[in-house]
Amino acid sequence: MVRRIGVLNYKGGTGKTTTVVNLGAGLAARGRRVLGVDLDPQGSLATCLGVRYTYSLTHMLLGQAQPYNCAVHARPNFDLIASDSSLLQAEGEMWRMRDSKAARQLLSNRLREMEHGYDYVLLDFSPSASILSESGLRYVRELIVPVSMGYLAMVGTRQVIETLRHIAHTPGSHVRLYLILPTRYSSRLKKDKEVLSILRHHFEERLADPIRASVKLTEANSHHMTIFEYSPRSTGAADYTRLVERVLSDG
Ligand SMILES: Nc1ncnc2c1ncn2[C@@H]1O[C@H](COP(=O)(O)OP(=O)(O)OP(=O)(O)O)[C@@H](O)[C@H]1O
Ligand SMILES: [Mg+2]
Repeated sequence: MVRRIGVLNYKGGTGKTTTVVNLGAGLAARGRRVLGVDLDPQGSLATCLGVRYTYSLTHMLLGQAQPYNCAVHARPNFDLIASDSSLLQAEGEMWRMRDSKAARQLLSNRLREMEHGYDYVLLDFSPSASILSESGLRYVRELIVPVSMGYLAMVGTRQVIETLRHIAHTPGSHVRLYLILPTRYSSRLKKDKEVLSILRHHFEERLADPIRASVKLTEANSHHMTIFEYSPRSTGAADYTRLVERVLSDG
């Protein structure tokens, strides 16, 4: 059965796209068939993987192309439905649909038509709570929530924990909080260690091992490569390998 996983946090820049790229690439390298779907009009997923495309999620949502024609080959076993700023137009159309329930179901229906060829569908959510985010939450069954350690330290762990507890409670969805993924972790910082142990206390086995802060992850993104291609011996590659193994072992 296909696993539908959303990578979501309404806070920007927490590592959602980086996680979809590298979790997707790691699963694909282990022979799993992966579809990545970009729900963000910023369109970073195709950019990070250096993929060109003709049809995007916009075409899929507006019925301008068959869903399977909107998936492009990114890497062996790893396909992608790309997005760009035209997605804002599709979101506008969704808002204007008279039947708002049908509008919110549209993404899910289209993805269900094409998910059969895949073992994993990974949704890269945008950092805003849009109609498309709501639709995405109706499709996915599991959520991975990347949280940036620096942000946690800044705003306070308690507030973030409260938000995380509510993130999976969305009307009309059957989604469960699968993993909290600490990102930009630095074991040299006492504060990061403290925050991690508070998170572990609250989320226990739902807390994934952290992704350490690594400039190689940023460089890989800007070179349009996965971390396994750009720097296979880096801490980023080791940390994402651990995440891949965790996801596989829970499957
Ligand atoms: N573990 C990490 N260490 C250092 N830099 C990282 C790490 N993870 C991601 N980054 C960098 O942080 C920036 C934001 O990451 P990314 O784009 O994955 O976040 P995002 O949550 O998808 O952002 P948005 O909310 O804008 O979609 C990027 O430049 C990325 O390369
Ligand atoms: Mg992103």
